[in-house]
Order: sequence, then C-alpha cells, then structure tokens
Amino acid sequence: MKKAFVKSYGCQMNAYDAGRMADLLAAEGYAATETVEEADVVVLNTCHIREKAAEKVFSEVGRLRVLKAERAQAGLDTRIVVAGCVAQAEGREILARTPAVDVVVGPQSYHRLPELLSESKSRRVVDTEFPIEDKFAKLPARRNRGVTGFLTIQEGCDKFCAFCVVPYTRGAEVSRPVAAIRAEAEAMLADGVREITLIGQNVNAYHGEALGGGTASLADLMRALSDLPGLARLRYTTSHPNDMGDDLIAAHGANPLVMPYLHLPVQSGSTRVLQAMNRKHTADAYRRLIERVRDARPDIALSSDFIVGFPGETDAEFEETMRLVADIGFASAFSFKYSPRAGTPAADREDAIPESVKSERLARLQQLLDGQRHAFNESMVCETVEVLVEKAGRHPGQVAGKTPHLLMVQIEAPASTIGTLLTVRITRSGSNSLFGELLPDAVAA
Ligand code: SAH
Ligand code: SF4
Ligand code: F3S
Repeated sequence: MKKAFVKSYGCQMNAYDAGRMADLLAAEGYAATETVEEADVVVLNTCHIREKAAEKVFSEVGRLRVLKAERAQAGLDTRIVVAGCVAQAEGREILARTPAVDVVVGPQSYHRLPELLSESKSRRVVDTEFPIEDKFAKLPARRNRGVTGFLTIQEGCDKFCAFCVVPYTRGAEVSRPVAAIRAEAEAMLADGVREITLIGQNVNAYHGEALGGGTASLADLMRALSDLPGLARLRYTTSHPNDMGDDLIAAHGANPLVMPYLHLPVQSGSTRVLQAMNRKHTADAYRRLIERVRDARPDIALSSDFIVGFPGETDAEFEETMRLVADIGFASAFSFKYSPRAGTPAADREDAIPESVKSERLARLQQLLDGQRHAFNESMVCETVEVLVEKAGRHPGQVAGKTPHLLMVQIEAPASTIGTLLTVRITRSGSNSLFGELLPDAVAA
C-alpha cells in the first residue's frame, strides 16, 4: 500500500488542513505514516507567520532531498508537496529554490491535491489560486481519531494588522454556512469526538448563513450546535477584540457547552503601538472588554498573544504592555519578538528595534506571563473540576484529559474512561500538568 506523511508546522487552521489533506490522500489509497522514510508522498503544511517558521520549510526540504535521492536509488518514487502559507506566499520561488519539490499548493486549493499529484508525474506544478468553488464541499468525509477535534468555520482575514501575513496568505474572510458546519460536527461526534474547537483566523467575526436563512453570529452557531447528541464541550479560537459581540460575551454565561476559556490576542498594552499595528482599538478598550467578559463568566481563563519590539516601540510603551499583563492576569499566553514580513506595511519601517532589545523585552514579558500561568495552575489545587478524558496518561494506570480551563490533568483511572467526563479533585500542580484524583461516583456523562 502507498503511504503518505503529512506534517503541520502552523496554527490550528494549518493542523486542520493537514488532517484534511491526509483524508484526501486516504481516499486515494494512501495509508498515513509517521515515518517519513517510508512515505511515497510527503506533505509539508507550512507556516509563514514569522521568519523562523518560514525558514524551517527550506531546511526540512533539504533533508527530504537526500531521502528522495536514496529512495530513488532503491527504485522508489517520492513526491514532495509544499502546502500551506509559505506555498501561498512564495509559490514559484519554492520550485526555483528547491528542485526536490514536486507540488506547491496553497491553503485554498489543496482539495485539488490528487490531481496535482498526478500532473506532477510529467511536470512540477504550482496551484496558489483562490478558487470560487467550495473547497470544503470537494473534500472527502473526514476521519476523526480523538476525543477532541478542530472544525474550521471561517477562513481568511480582512483586518490587515500592519505586521501580519495572514490576509495575504489566506485571503478575504469567508464563513461557512451553519448547515455545513453542523454536518461536519455530526460526523465528528459519530466518530467519538466529544469536544469541538471551532476555528478560524478571526473566528468571532463569523457570519455564516443561518439554518433558516439570514446570518448567524458565532454565538448563534454555537447555539445551533448545542443540541447535537454526544457533544460535551465547545471552544473557539482565535478571536479579535473588535469582533467580541455582546451575544458572544453573553454565551459564556448562558451556554453551558461553551467553556470558560478565551484566547483574545491584544499584542500590546500601548495604545500608540496598537494604532501603529492597525489593531483599531485602544488598550483601555481591551481592559473594558475583559471586564465585561469577566462579568459574564467570572471564572474565565484568559489567554492572549503579544508582540514585543514592533518598530518604534519605546521602553515606556513596552512597560505599558507589562502593566496591562499585570493588571489583567492571564492563565496562558504566547509572546513573540516582532519579525518583519515582506509585503506587510510594517516591514518597510525604518525604526526597527535592535534584536538585543527585543530579546530583553521578550524575556521580561515571558517571566511575568510564566509566573501568572503557574499561579493560575496552583489556584486549581483542591478544586473539583470536570475533566474530559482524552488519552492514556503518562504512566500505566493513568489517563489524561483537560479541565474546562484547558489545563491537562493526569488521573489514576482506567483506560475505559477515555471519552467520558470525570469529576476530579485536583491534588497537585506540576510544571506541565495538574494531577487529580477521582471523586466517588465520578462518572458524570
Ligand atoms: N488571527 C489571529 C492571529 C494569527 S497569528 C489574531 O488576530 O489574533 C498568531 C499570532 O502571531 C498573532 O496574534 C501575533 O501575536 C503573532 N504574529 C503575527 N505576525 C507576527 C510577526 N510578523 N512577528 C511576530 N509575531 C507575529
Ligand atoms: Fe493577522 Fe491581524 Fe488578521 Fe489576526 S486579525 S490574522 S493578526 S491581520
Ligand atoms: Fe501560519 Fe498560515 Fe496559520 S501563516 S499561523 S499557518 S494561517
């Protein structure tokens, strides 16, 4: 049997796409493999968001070139596919730079992968179109393996933050209809999925066709999914502060399936920097928004993204970011040094911040965020929480799953609990995981 190796290097959307490409290849008779040496087709689903992420592809292709030559000597054909956001951004340049690559395919045209692979037998091919046809409608039925799964409900971005490549690599914002999303959710649940994370580059800007006509917001969509049998939890990511509608905030208090967790990137605590980033809101507006979210759901765990060293960011402006973090308190967060990306407005600025300053700022911010994360984990000790068991735990006799606040817990419990909700008392907090014990009559659902 032919084998395919598919790897994702990017965000959740990219991981979702990688899964769908594996589904496509499975429908063509390729078994999935995790061993790249035995793969007849290798798909690298790439990310363009920061320079480091984008460069990874080229080093990976370098290794694959050697592998491809070795396999050729043994009489085996290997097709190398570069997909994802680097493919979209660099297209033909990839073919020029990396002779071993056979197919370059963008995030909006990967449903054509089987055709492209067969075309590649006679010539190297690039497809970075934004086709009019519905990619999702062309994909085969999805195959789910786990208890949790991602579901793409919205793609693309119209926000054009000054630092970001996504509007260029993913194109304009498009929402899928509620009916299509419900059908995909039903297929996931039939395979044993219990928790669905609705994903999109700007997921809370969702405005898809509602079931009875008209337009559904993200809160409407979550309501429309909530009666699906077997569905235990809903999450969504990633959101933009300006699309945090009243109904979505209210859903955190009103819809019991919506988990008390919100990833809401703010990027900076300085209004001047936010303006330069084209984020279109002030630092105070973000603080007020968080207050409203906390009013609706007081125990909500907050998460965010930060960029340090955006061109022109002064020491005082960076301190405003530190202050915002200290004031709000985050359960988790991602933080990055600004990375100039060709084609974005900020890349042309001449007031770049020296690398050493960026590194210092990042270290200080990460220290603060790490402390907050530890404190949040510690605050869970002695709490009783519901855990959705996802998999075997670290040690025999243990299982692992996540709390509503997205924290991983190791529990002494049999493997038969995988896929169920357990009521667990948290006994201790480790560096990457919590530890919990089962309460009597713990199986909740
Ligand atoms: N759509 C999401 C973000 C997607 S990119 C949103 O708007 O929140 C994920 C994160 O990568 C961003 O939130 C930002 O913090 C970071 N990022 C994006 N472009 C970057 C760049 N050029 N340099 C450094 N970090 C960047
Ligand atoms: Fe990028 Fe901004 Fe769009 Fe997020 S909202 S994907 S950071 S342009
Ligand atoms: Fe990267 Fe593309 Fe996602 S650039 S972050 S894989 S949308």
